[in-house]
Amino acid sequence: MSLKKICCIGAGYVGGPTMSVIAEKCPHIEVEVVDISEARIAQWNDEDLNNLPIYEPGLKEIVENTRNKNLFFSTDVARAIEESDIIFISVTTPTKQYGVGQGMAADLKYVEICARQIGKYAKSNKIVVEKSTLPVRTAEAIRDILENSDNDYSFEILSNPEFLAEGTAINDLLFPDRVLIGGNSDTESGIAAMNVLKDLYLNWVQDDHVVLSNVWSSELSKLVANAFLAQRVSSINAISELCEVTEANIKEVSKAIGMDSRIGPKFLNASVGFGGSCFQKDILNLVYISNSYGLKEVGDYWQQVITLNDHQKRRFAYKIVSKLYNTVSDKKITLLGWAFKKDTNDTRESASIYVADYLMNEQAKIVVYDPKVTAEQIYADLDYLNTRSEKENRALLEVVNDPIEACQDAHAIAIMTEWDEFKSYDWKSIYDNMFKPAFLFDGRALLDVESLKGIGFETYVIGKG
Ligand code: UDX
Ligand code: ADP
Repeated sequence: MSLKKICCIGAGYVGGPTMSVIAEKCPHIEVEVVDISEARIAQWNDEDLNNLPIYEPGLKEIVENTRNKNLFFSTDVARAIEESDIIFISVTTPTKQYGVGQGMAADLKYVEICARQIGKYAKSNKIVVEKSTLPVRTAEAIRDILENSDNDYSFEILSNPEFLAEGTAINDLLFPDRVLIGGNSDTESGIAAMNVLKDLYLNWVQDDHVVLSNVWSSELSKLVANAFLAQRVSSINAISELCEVTEANIKEVSKAIGMDSRIGPKFLNASVGFGGSCFQKDILNLVYISNSYGLKEVGDYWQQVITLNDHQKRRFAYKIVSKLYNTVSDKKITLLGWAFKKDTNDTRESASIYVADYLMNEQAKIVVYDPKVTAEQIYADLDYLNTRSEKENRALLEVVNDPIEACQDAHAIAIMTEWDEFKSYDWKSIYDNMFKPAFLFDGRALLDVESLKGIGFETYVIGKG
């Protein structure tokens, strides 16, 4: 098959950057990204590239190179499906908020809608690629829907999970550790479809980095990769609490164990807790699948990674309360960083949301500064928790665009995201303009704590006490 056009349903954190990189690396292929959200597509088409809906280093430059050449953004889902040889599904699969599996299983509503749309609008055979992280055996559901749709075309379903991490998405896409393609190798058409997708990646990825497997292995591998990464963070965070009550220092422990080549140095930074759209959702999914097959011990094992993460966020908030003489009522506490990690404007499951919420329950006056997250998003995150009314959220939390103003007259500052710019602040002048004693809680072990103490700050660093 000579590939002329591909499309992606869902112009989000995965679909947008992934399709931009494919367009950049495959100038001979037309790439169209479609979304039901007109506002989101308008942002992708905005002349001012600073208004793209996603902040990701390097993304702007690639979109500038390719947009309206071989990369297009539109809301015309039907036409894009009709014209494309390969259709990627990259829509959200949030944790289900209702019914069976509530709070655990993935909500496949949006994926199902996509499958039905493909069945309705396809006018030739198609390769359908699951790009969103999906529970194992979702491909089967997509196949069922397509086979029962009212048309005579054939559909090959592939799983091609995304391993990009936000903040480094472009680099991860350009130089992937591996590209995983799951398909049906029992049929000729299944093998052919896998090869079409493989050839697309071979435009820039080395042959031996492309791994073929069956669909279920591919789907499960995505969940397991995220569960293993999250488990490392929860493991080191568990040890951070132990370090705080002993003479051990978490940074020294991380370094020492990471030098063991069997363990390796990555994902061993203690933090206020992991966030992001994948880790918690994927582990909950793994737990749900395990439990639904009656594997209680397996489910309990992975559940503990989440339990520890919840504990880490709560413990950080309570540390702030206890250090501030057990009362934060009416005290100004500044949170630096709202995104779940640096170099992204994504806030899904960010630890900041939960820490702010705990402190607001204690009637603290929260001020937030984040270099890339909008006030609108911050309030939306809090409102979504449903802990208190929208009016109360706005009364208790203020969003400020200037970090120095945000810290003015604060009783305490908490570092929530590891943004590089926090390291270059004039901490002496920030200290001078705060209430005394001035507290600094470093949830990322980001700053040079000895020099902060020298300035006069009372400090607490995760993993150090
Ligand atoms: C993750 C996976 O890394 C990626 O492969 C997958 O496709 C999607 O999920 P992402 O959620 O974008 O990517 O970010 P990641 O870098 O994995 O960080 C997740 C969370 O763990 C962040 O909140 C981060 O701050 C935290 N983290 C990470 C730590 O607290 N300590 C670490 O050492 C590493
Ligand atoms: P991810 O991190 O998985 O990319 P996002 O929320 O950033 O998640 O993006 C998912 C996108 O999918 C959203 O922009 C949403 O509007 C879009 N979407 C959801 N359902 C559909 C659908 N049926 N058709 C087209 N777009 C959809």
